[in-house]
Amino acid sequence: MLTKEEVSNLINPIKDPFLHKTFEETGGIEEIKIKEEKNHVSVKLAIGKTNTAEQMQLQQNVVNILKKGGAATVGLRFSQLPDEVIAKHQPTSEKDPSLLDGQSNTKFIAVASGKGGVGKSTVTVNLAVALARLGKKVGIIDADIYGFSIPDMMGVEERPKLRGNRIIPVERFGVKIISMGFFVEDNSPVIWRGPRLGKMLTSFFKEVEWGELDYLLLDLPPGTGDVALDVHNMIPSSKEVIVTTPHPTAAFVAARAGQMALTTDHEILGVIENMAYFESQLTGEKEFVFGKGGGDKLAEALETKVIGQLSLQQPFEEEGVFAPSVYQEDHPNGKEYRKIAAKVIDKFE
Ligand SMILES: Nc1ncnc2c1ncn2[C@@H]1O[C@H](COP(=O)(O)OP(=O)(O)OP(=O)(O)O)[C@@H](O)[C@H]1O
Ligand SMILES: [Mg+2]
Repeated sequence: MLTKEEVSNLINPIKDPFLHKTFEETGGIEEIKIKEEKNHVSVKLAIGKTNTAEQMQLQQNVVNILKKGGAATVGLRFSQLPDEVIAKHQPTSEKDPSLLDGQSNTKFIAVASGKGGVGKSTVTVNLAVALARLGKKVGIIDADIYGFSIPDMMGVEERPKLRGNRIIPVERFGVKIISMGFFVEDNSPVIWRGPRLGKMLTSFFKEVEWGELDYLLLDLPPGTGDVALDVHNMIPSSKEVIVTTPHPTAAFVAARAGQMALTTDHEILGVIENMAYFESQLTGEKEFVFGKGGGDKLAEALETKVIGQLSLQQPFEEEGVFAPSVYQEDHPNGKEYRKIAAKVIDKFE
């Protein structure tokens, strides 16, 4: 006749087939009952993953051990361990796959501009969505740590989940997204500086479970500050898209960002002229409200080309879909982004 303590001593050293940890470590023995008159032992075990072939094997194993130990009959039930417990014991792969170890085939595109408010984030979001619409696996790093805006622009309300010590990015419109915005409460301002900032960016590469990606877009903060430099250093293979408005001054300022790309030896994929014109819904006439030629001038200065011109226009209002900055496929700007995405793919492949 087995006692409860003997049963637990017999089961404790057995390993959870999914977590590769013993029941003693996971605390997976939930209940032990013994019916003395029939010498029947019934046990409830919580494991990392239920209804698998491994569970069947484990079941056999436990039954054999308990019978050897003296039980006449054994009843077993399984349940799943709570998520926190699984997360705590999850095996981490020998070498965490990192986007930065040079082994991955992911192509990096940093979206930059010299000046704020010209539409970098809008371009990042829509270029990413357009690439995904063309069948590419795409991710976005919102590298604007202080001025994050990607989650709001794409209407993301979820937060990333954790699996073990890895962060699972949030996915919307087929694009995986990570942003500082996911990690601060109620939009409170981020006041980190220097090292922590750099660490944050590194975490976005190293601690996020990106899976396989064809393209990873980085939305850079305006100007040529710390983050831009960090990105330049971290991913030397990154190529750049420079966003400007058609206004000559904006283009002049954007040239600084471009110049930096050139000095850090990043290839510039092209210039995107945003808010290039306003098209009258009534007459179809184009008005160049912010002037003309900024994009061309900039492209010339950077020895590249203008690869797209977006009109000044909001996305269509769509019932039930909240994503304030994502242009629909049949929107004039949506179509232009599709062309830009095709050009980008062309340049890489
Ligand atoms: N083509 C466009 N037509 C109409 N509005 C636009 C267009 N492009 C961008 N906007 C709007 O202009 C504002 C600035 O755009 P966005 O945030 O993308 O610029 P940014 O360069 O990322 O700014 P920041 O430097 O602050 O990060 C946003 O409100 C955005 O919705
Ligand atoms: Mg922005």
